[in-house]
Amino acid sequence: SKLEMFVDELPDMPKIQGFRMLNTSPKPKSLMIGMFKKKWKFHRDLPPTPVFAYGASRRGATVPGPTIEALQGIDTYVTWKNFLPSRHILPWDPTIPTAIPATKTGIPTVVHLHGGMHEPANDGNANSWFTAGFKEKGPDWSKRTYHYNNNQQPGSLWYHDHAMGLTRVNLLAGLIGAYVIRHPEVEGPLELPHGEEFDRPLIVFDRSFRKDGSIYMNSTGNNPSIHPQWQPEYFGDLIIVNGKAWPKTTVRRRKYRLRIINASNARFFRLFFTNGLEFIHVASDSTYLVEPVVSNETLLAPSEIADVVVDFSKSKTDEAVLANDAPYPYPSGDPVNELNGRVMKFTIKKEREVDTWRVPEKLIQYPSPDLSSATQTRYIAMYEYTSDTDEPTHLYINGKPYEAPATETPKAGTSEIWNVINLTEDNHPMHIHLAVFTVLDQTELVKAEEFKACMSKMNDAIKCQISKHARGKKLRVAAHEKGWKNVYKMTPGYVTRILVRFSYIHSNTSYSFDPTGMPGYVYHCHVSNYIAFPFMFGGYIFKYKT
Ligand code: C2O
Repeated sequence: SKLEMFVDELPDMPKIQGFRMLNTSPKPKSLMIGMFKKKWKFHRDLPPTPVFAYGASRRGATVPGPTIEALQGIDTYVTWKNFLPSRHILPWDPTIPTAIPATKTGIPTVVHLHGGMHEPANDGNANSWFTAGFKEKGPDWSKRTYHYNNNQQPGSLWYHDHAMGLTRVNLLAGLIGAYVIRHPEVEGPLELPHGEEFDRPLIVFDRSFRKDGSIYMNSTGNNPSIHPQWQPEYFGDLIIVNGKAWPKTTVRRRKYRLRIINASNARFFRLFFTNGLEFIHVASDSTYLVEPVVSNETLLAPSEIADVVVDFSKSKTDEAVLANDAPYPYPSGDPVNELNGRVMKFTIKKEREVDTWRVPEKLIQYPSPDLSSATQTRYIAMYEYTSDTDEPTHLYINGKPYEAPATETPKAGTSEIWNVINLTEDNHPMHIHLAVFTVLDQTELVKAEEFKACMSKMNDAIKCQISKHARGKKLRVAAHEKGWKNVYKMTPGYVTRILVRFSYIHSNTSYSFDPTGMPGYVYHCHVSNYIAFPFMFGGYIFKYKT
């Protein structure tokens, strides 16, 4: 029997303040957030689902986890504690390079604050994992309590698991949550929709379930003789928002700010409202835009964030369904069906209201990309090695695996041009830890097969004459994606040129990084089945030089 859509109310996740008030001034705060196994109701008619959930206590743990609200410049300390049992709720493929505790008890986890700018030991490196009670630890584990400086531009971040080889299943199990950095002096004057009711994170992901309510994950590898269980992608048929399948909510005829986070493993969402309501983009996954940009649809790769205002007073109908029409895998996979083509429903109240919020003409101006300041040009080729039966076996960057020594060693405070060459058939959302970047252009490769053949032997874009091949048609970068971002869609068969900035762009202090400091930072494709194991794209650890 089919599950009915739009029957559960859209929840808001519990909020945890990442600062405390002393008299009237905000002070740093230490939090404990645990990871618990518990049961979660994803839908009225679905039996409770075993999940892994973040929370201040087992009782209070939710999927997604609590939204952490931090203040710009005020430190938040989080002791992430693992209270998980020794058996995973999802298949664990030991043939992929993965965190395996020696005693084979306990589930390795480690938390990455996505979009956060902090020193490497707090970054949730894939090999800094730990099991329940910190009983066993990965080779790069160094501390129990992570220090988030919050000394960066205000905006929408999220936290998620990042353990070696287990990221995909730990995310599917529920280890995700939103994190907001606010800067009242800077954001207040904008008068954007604000407060619990009008400013809400929407964490969107896809899942499939068995009849008994448990999460279904196809656990026969595409290439079982190599990896019995691992698959390069995961797609579920139910669309979950803030922990409920196809939820509904009632809104007033006013403006709302929605921070839409794509927390899927592999699914892209191309979102639109069935009644034509528009998205007014105010920020990207990294920073505010210089000015708002209006669009009818918004394409979000895994881990991209659309920070938008929706003005429900403009609605000509009393209902608006947020829908999705992105093929999966993106761009050349199956079209959406009647299940995964729907996200959630808004019911708009009839009464007209006076709206005190506005969308200002100018938002926040950050330093514009300055090409002349780039000190390095790098070529980053994503290349998929396949077996005789055409199944992906290795996914390397410039032919190198995760364990290879760091090749990218940018200096803190500098900018570089990276040419990301996607030689695979799929769109890969590339995420760079710590840095921010702007997309300069996307150019199709001509005679791509010739270039590919050369790269498979030489692994050197310059020797393979990239400049002769990067001559095809150009793709338009959407206006709302022209600002600073930390993840972007690398179109297959194209070279995407980005200007990467290795520094804080909104900060009043500077940090020095230990040049020998391990474990450094990674960049990778955010299709989380690839995250944190050697066949992933990236995994170059770049160490900061000061
Ligand atoms: Cu959101 Cu390295 O990841």
